[in-house]
Amino acid sequence: MSKHLTSLPEWKALAAHAAELKNVHLRELFAKDSSRGTKFTAEAAGLYLDYSKNRITEETVKLLIALAEASQLKARTEAMFTGEKINITENRAVLHVALRAPKTEKILVDGEDVVPEVHAVLEKMAGFAEKVRSGAWLGYTGKRIKNIVNIGIGGSDLGPVMAYEALKHYSNRDLTFRFVSNVDGTDFAEAVHDLNAEETLFLVASKTFTTLETMTNAHSARTWALATLKQTEAIASHFVAISTNEKEVAKFGIDTQNMFGFWDWVGGRYSMDSAIGLSTMLAIGPNNFRELLDGFHDMDVHFRTTPIEKNLPALLGLLSVWYTEFFDAQTVAILPYDQYLKRFPAYLQQLTMESNGKHVTLEGKTVDYQTGPIYWGEPGTNGQHSFYQLIHQGTRLIPCDFIGFSKTLNPLGNHHDLLMANVFAQTEALAFGKTAEEVKAEGVADALVPHKVFEGNRPSNTILAEKLTPRLLGSLVALYEHAVFTQGVIWQIDSFDQWGVELGKVLASRIIKEIASDTELKHDSSTNNLITRYKSKK
Ligand code: F6P
Repeated sequence: MSKHLTSLPEWKALAAHAAELKNVHLRELFAKDSSRGTKFTAEAAGLYLDYSKNRITEETVKLLIALAEASQLKARTEAMFTGEKINITENRAVLHVALRAPKTEKILVDGEDVVPEVHAVLEKMAGFAEKVRSGAWLGYTGKRIKNIVNIGIGGSDLGPVMAYEALKHYSNRDLTFRFVSNVDGTDFAEAVHDLNAEETLFLVASKTFTTLETMTNAHSARTWALATLKQTEAIASHFVAISTNEKEVAKFGIDTQNMFGFWDWVGGRYSMDSAIGLSTMLAIGPNNFRELLDGFHDMDVHFRTTPIEKNLPALLGLLSVWYTEFFDAQTVAILPYDQYLKRFPAYLQQLTMESNGKHVTLEGKTVDYQTGPIYWGEPGTNGQHSFYQLIHQGTRLIPCDFIGFSKTLNPLGNHHDLLMANVFAQTEALAFGKTAEEVKAEGVADALVPHKVFEGNRPSNTILAEKLTPRLLGSLVALYEHAVFTQGVIWQIDSFDQWGVELGKVLASRIIKEIASDTELKHDSSTNNLITRYKSKK
């Protein structure tokens, strides 16, 4: 039984320390220690983390590490890596780390080594990807496949889309990729409106193969494809499935030979490096996909073996706990300064918020502290001309993660220097701000001075890497996966279930039937009225 978090002496020490630090400005902290900018840094798996612009001292780091130790972070990490069933509400192991384990590793689940199966699926995926990429896999009418449409939602969509966008530079440009997720028919209609079914391959990606959105889109895809291909036997050449549910795949009519499997110990939001990543492999090729997996593994090894004070995911996780608990921060902004990472904040939203948006502990007790913050963001520099105003001068504290690269994949005049100058400028402005004296010294009229003051003292992390490669992307994603895990360990919650999505699903299935029939509505007066109005106008 875990100890009550807020009664831990380590928690109390942090709370007292935070009260002391509340009125300390980053300007002071930097002035006091000229080595601060290199001291609060850590590096691993191609990623350099500068966390010096946080409202912390060496004492803070010491106290956060003490909290992590009291929370058994190391033991919990070992439990995850060795296949213990740490997803207790679903009685499942949590082994996304096995998806990128080298062949030589052994990881047991219920006494069985899962690593050989992982590699067998990877080989099957590679064989298939080579066939499609080389043109050996033909459509039913003998035409080469030119379009790949991934149908999935949540973890079966966000990871694949994010990775496709992030690694577009490495992708086969002869293939067109589309991603359909929303049950809104517009998503499907727009995705296929200019495609020829004879040249189109659908990847139906769903762990359960029962998700309403995905199954509805998959059935529409079948109807759409058969309108051109006519024969049901054509489905085998144009549909493959990625799932853990062989029975449902067969029921849908997809040949299970054309199914790529994974396992219940892979959570949906942790699955982009499983068979769910088939679209990624089709886009960038099997060798680049292996590089991606190696990047994940680099970070796994770092997280598992490095002391907390130099451990990137642990530090990142602990820093967000620090602001969430002791500075009333409600959100974290993810600000990648790389256009290829435009879907990274959206991907992280599911990873972080579906994992740590929980209100009870592992033991089912209601927490008396905050858990997962809201993650959001946009690629730089676009956000600067939109919401940064609030981060700089608003009333809320918003810790930010800036992500940038030394080298661009698209050298174009001085664009990249301009882009990166903005990363450094933003973190500097947030931390140091501009005092009233500085504003006055510029000759600003007295009445305008308060409007032009930047308080500063706004925390940020900067993550720098050399170049966005498949390997680097793997490390970056694993960094956040393990940061989320670290947070969950401190908060004593199950980061791997998602019961909060169930109620809406159940109610929707009841309402779907009510819309299609004349049964009496037995909801509240608002819901009854809205359904009635919808039915009368549709
Ligand atoms: O939204 C709930 C959820 O279960 C996610 O956790 C998951 O990624 C998504 O639905 C899709 O599930 P599936 O891959 O089973 O279709």
